[in-house]
Amino acid sequence: MKQKIENFAEEKLGNEVAAGIDHLRRDFKIAKKLAELENIDYDEEILHAACFLHDLFDESEEEHNIVAARIAGEFLPSIDFPSEKIEQVQEAIKEHLPSGKPKSKEAILLHDADLIDFLGATGIVRLSIGAWDWMEKSSLKEFISVFEKFRKDCYENLVLDKSKELSEKKIKFMDLAIKELNEELGEI
Ligand SMILES: [Fe+2]
Ligand SMILES: [Fe+2]
Repeated sequence: MKQKIENFAEEKLGNEVAAGIDHLRRDFKIAKKLAELENIDYDEEILHAACFLHDLFDESEEEHNIVAARIAGEFLPSIDFPSEKIEQVQEAIKEHLPSGKPKSKEAILLHDADLIDFLGATGIVRLSIGAWDWMEKSSLKEFISVFEKFRKDCYENLVLDKSKELSEKKIKFMDLAIKELNEELGEI
């Protein structure tokens, strides 16, 4: 079951880098780590499916969390995923954005893991790709505002205390990167 879900995600995401299959693997790993640190008892099938299907997209104009929830709702029955859990997978996917309001344990774990993966050195690399690819920014100065926005939105919206703890070092690195970049670009 798990392999089928991961294969489907990998195939759908193609050569996507900033939100590709390795991002999904990191989210799942971070989410499980958070559950361990917070002593959260979660449903492994729901968390795994939500982590691996949360960033799928198609040609539609809708927000990607809505698209991904729809794709998950179409795909999961085809592999006989437990039907009673599909709605919870979709709910977690829908609420994974910084502005999301995750309620279930699995939704909170995915939400925080996904925000953490936008922070630190990984965040700087992913956001650099995202600023250019998703947000069509064309200068490094514009990248700085993207870093600042995600640094603020992702950190401030973390739900779990352990998520904030895990992010401390990443935030320090990000602040330094932003400061250095500002200085270097200011010199030119
Ligand atoms: Fe996403
Ligand atoms: Fe994501």
